[in-house]
Amino acid sequence: MALLPILRYPDPRLHTVAKPVSVVDARIKALISDMLETMYDANGIGLAATQIDVHERLIVIDVSEERDAPLVLINPELVWTSEEKHVNEEGCLSVPGIYDSVERYNAVHVRALDGQGQSQMTQADGLLAVCIQHEMDHLVGKVFVEYLSPLKRNRIKTKLIKSQREELRR
Ligand code: NI
Repeated sequence: MALLPILRYPDPRLHTVAKPVSVVDARIKALISDMLETMYDANGIGLAATQIDVHERLIVIDVSEERDAPLVLINPELVWTSEEKHVNEEGCLSVPGIYDSVERYNAVHVRALDGQGQSQMTQADGLLAVCIQHEMDHLVGKVFVEYLSPLKRNRIKTKLIKSQREELRR
């Protein structure tokens, strides 16, 4: 197991569109365990492979209080979305310290392979539904700040670039 470095916005690699996972083999299983370790270490509730610079359709999520209910989604596809949408406050491990409002479907059904390569259907609402939509966006190269106004986005970009420069100087 290993902790993986997480790409930070505005790293252009975050805009890469991921390819489907062709086979759930030992390499993918090792990647899943490293991604889970990285997500738990960073106190995140979700991590997409895109964020660790692997451009394959793979997501790990855990929205449980106890941090003991990992969900693995490989090649996820939304098969149903609710008519209703809701605005929620979101954050992202690739956009540290920034939280803002994004509109998402209230509920979704997602078909995906699990960590063993078995097909599964997940019916999600609430925080899990938000998290699934946020992570699936990463797989198509979209970061949540792209839903915000250009003015806000530019402020966030400037702030993050500045804080990364300060970290390098330390
Ligand atoms: Ni994110």
